[in-house]
Amino acid sequence: MNERINVDSLPCLSREQLSKFNGTDDTKLYVAIKGYVYDVTANSKSYGPGKAYNKLVGKDVGRLLGLNKLQLKEENGRVPDSWDLSDLTEKQLGFIDDWIVFFKMRYPIVAKIEET
Ligand code: HEM
Repeated sequence: MNERINVDSLPCLSREQLSKFNGTDDTKLYVAIKGYVYDVTANSKSYGPGKAYNKLVGKDVGRLLGLNKLQLKEENGRVPDSWDLSDLTEKQLGFIDDWIVFFKMRYPIVAKIEET
């Protein structure tokens, strides 16, 4: 999976557009990690509406994977962005890289997230 991907030719999605690929607004299920979007639609039994990992779809979830959480709590008066890795430890960043290996093996990369 993904051996022949040319990252320069991937379409770009904004985070707003990505948020629709949640199995409800759009039938497709997308999970992004560190800016790359994986199509997990084939695994709707895990990621579909009402399923355990539906909390991970439609967003860039690096922070969630690094912290091993499905939902982020308020910190200093605001809920951190699910893609914010700025305060993660080396170990937590390593967990994310391990997940990237897993996702790259299992799911096609279909887009990248627009830099904002
Ligand atoms: C009580 C806690 C948890 C249990 C018992 C659990 C259990 C499992 C199981 C059984 C699988 C399937 C493994 C397989 O298909 O071989 C799985 C996959 C997965 N888990 Fe968890 N999990 C837990 C918490 C979490 C949390 C907090 C996260 C969020 C970071 C998470 C993210 C994932 C992801 C992304 C997958 C891969 C799903 C896929 O694409 O197949 N899990 N988990």
